Amino acid sequence: MERIAVIGSGTMGHGIAQVAAMYGLRVGLYDIEEGRLVAALGQVRSSLDRLARSGKLDETGTAEALGRIETTTELASAVDGAEVVIEAVPEVLELKHQVFRQLDATCPAETVLATNTSQLSITEIAAVTAYPERTLGLHFFNPPVLMRLVEVVRGLRTSDVTLGRGLELVGQLGKESVVCQRDAAGFITTRALAALRLECLRIYEEGIASIADIDKAIRLGLNHPMGPFELTDLVGLDVALNNSRNLEQVYGERFRPPQSLALHVAAGRLGRKTGAGWYDYSPEGERVDDSEG
Ligand SMILES: NC(=O)c1ccc[n+]([C@@H]2O[C@H](COP(=O)([O-])OP(=O)(O)OC[C@H]3O[C@@H](n4cnc5c(N)ncnc54)[C@H](O)[C@@H]3O)[C@@H](O)[C@H]2O)c1
Repeated sequence: MERIAVIGSGTMGHGIAQVAAMYGLRVGLYDIEEGRLVAALGQVRSSLDRLARSGKLDETGTAEALGRIETTTELASAVDGAEVVIEAVPEVLELKHQVFRQLDATCPAETVLATNTSQLSITEIAAVTAYPERTLGLHFFNPPVLMRLVEVVRGLRTSDVTLGRGLELVGQLGKESVVCQRDAAGFITTRALAALRLECLRIYEEGIASIADIDKAIRLGLNHPMGPFELTDLVGLDVALNNSRNLEQVYGERFRPPQSLALHVAAGRLGRKTGAGWYDYSPEGERVDDSEG
């Protein structure tokens, strides 16, 4: 493949665009907000500079990668000539529908339309398109530049050709893939991670151990790079709550969010982005105390 488009230039969109550009693909990066595009290019540049400083990329590689990303607020220009379009707009079904309707009307029938959703149904997102056969899930992880996996998700109507094209792109981006053969909420990773997070919350609520000790146990005992509370502070407690409620709707009681999570969200303790979540943070983002623990 030679060219892809990425829709939405936020946390995931700019990272996916960077990976594709580093692996020699041209990228049309689209957003509705010019300011987000400027910020996205700045983030890509800083990340490429960091890679260059650590010897993983030379100066020419950095300049060439940057040169392959074209940012635009014109959808038609972003998707022009793209073989695969990856949607990375916020996790709201109505928004995804709006984008997929626009893509369906703008892209030729052979263009593959992928969504980076973490848990919404691919089939449901694709339902508003005239050719659901050409849709699939390509679930990248944060940050896309460092994370090695892409979860490839088959919707009910995804064709074999589309699945094959998705896997081809993932390979071209130097990533490993796993295939979810059935479209089920939360796929593999979002569902497994939510289960671990909820069980750790219950251990805390039952007074069995402190938050800091639960995180330490999962890090050192199970060899996870971060404990579930630290990770939730990074992702956002509001995102975790929303995630849990969505999974509860499908799988029932076992994903019901524990009270402490809903209370923290109600109190505005959303994690690093608000300066406090399960832990407190300084304005520079340093953890300042383990008061919750
Ligand atoms: N952040 C993560 O850790 C993570 C990890 C894996 C998957 N995801 C999924 O990736 C998707 C994007 O998440 P994010 O964290 O990058 O979101 P984000 O809020 O950081 O970025 C979303 C971007 O989409 C833009 N946008 C909004 N409406 C748009 C529209 N109609 N057309 C084009 N652009 C539009 C916004 O301006 C913003 O720049 C979500 O589905 C999310 O669930 C997120």
